Amino acid sequence: MSALAKNYKRRKIAFTKGVGSFLYSTNGKKYLDFVQGIAVNSLGHANPYLVKAINKQSKKVWHVSNAFLIPEGERLASRLAKRTFASSIIFQNSGAEATETAIKVAKRYFYSIGKPKKNKIICIKNSFHGRTIAAINASGSKKMTEGFGPKVPGFDHFEFGDLKSLKKKITTNTAAVLIETSLGEGGVKAHSKIFLKNLRKICNKKNILLILDEVQCGIGRSGKFFAFEYAKIKPDIVPIAKGIGGGFPIGAVLMTKKVASAMNPGTHGSTFGGNPLAMSVGNAVLDIIFKKGFLLNVQKISSYFNSELNKIKNNYPKLIKEIRGTGLLIGLQLFNEQSKFIKKLEDNKLLTIRAAENVIRILPPLNVKKSEIDLALKIIKKVCKEYRA
Ligand SMILES: Cc1ncc(COP(=O)(O)O)c(C=O)c1O
Repeated sequence: MSALAKNYKRRKIAFTKGVGSFLYSTNGKKYLDFVQGIAVNSLGHANPYLVKAINKQSKKVWHVSNAFLIPEGERLASRLAKRTFASSIIFQNSGAEATETAIKVAKRYFYSIGKPKKNKIICIKNSFHGRTIAAINASGSKKMTEGFGPKVPGFDHFEFGDLKSLKKKITTNTAAVLIETSLGEGGVKAHSKIFLKNLRKICNKKNILLILDEVQCGIGRSGKFFAFEYAKIKPDIVPIAKGIGGGFPIGAVLMTKKVASAMNPGTHGSTFGGNPLAMSVGNAVLDIIFKKGFLLNVQKISSYFNSELNKIKNNYPKLIKEIRGTGLLIGLQLFNEQSKFIKKLEDNKLLTIRAAENVIRILPPLNVKKSEIDLALKIIKKVCKEYRA
């Protein structure tokens, strides 16, 4: 009997080793891992460059309090700021903390300019922002909030893609719109560029902050450093996590100078967030992702993967409904419930994971090789051929 709580429905496989795109199980099997900790291991398992960075820092200093200067964090923040819209960064440990902090920043900004009643947040119904009490209420999903009452006030919701209904929800008390630039858990759904551009315009017009959650789709997964770059817009606040740590827990909130001015000493904090060990890993991840041509390669390889998946879809029009997503955040949507298909892929040594709307989420590491994509395609084709719903 396991002493672990039963809050996860775990698959019956454990692993002894991971190398790049592959995982080796305790019973001697080799799996192509296109889950990668749900978009966390952005550079694959046991990436030698990251191993070196973490080993090096582990012999110096792991953790000091944020009461002191942390040069590794200064460096990571300044590199993120230089590359993005942001001028200030707060480090955290996870995606939920990062989205929670983003919500705090938005509320605090309006408080700091004498508008404390402008504190409501509008989100997409059935989206995903993490599992803290505020984040589940931001999701607008009954499945996540049920049994965790009372409802946290101050969140309202609109349907994915429906700008008209969003506009109707806006009041003088609206502080921010918080959405995932590209939905992950919610079914691997990317917003159109025009939707994002119009959303930015509405936020500007109504003096509302735009928070784009890039916890899952950010840090190169879309083929751009941030997915919103495709729409050529700039948000005000962006929570990140997952990919920035390459497997080490790091979260962060990126902010413009304007909103960051509200975060005075004492307004927010974290014991672990931004410690030297985490920051050294984050810097090592950026060393690779910022390399010339790296993101271009993510774009190239993901568009190859996408077009090959579409060919499979065309061969199985009654089985596969749609190929969705952005870059290497890929969704294969079935007409029927997907768990049996995921199990068949697993039996054929390809690991994938579910998302809402019958979607199978496929999340290779960003440095995946073409030969590994071809292997995944071969397995998907085989399962399609043999599959009986
Ligand atoms: C878009 C998005 N936001 C927030 C989170 C929460 O991140 P974490 O599980 O690290 O708390 C996730 C996790 O899947 C996510 O996909």
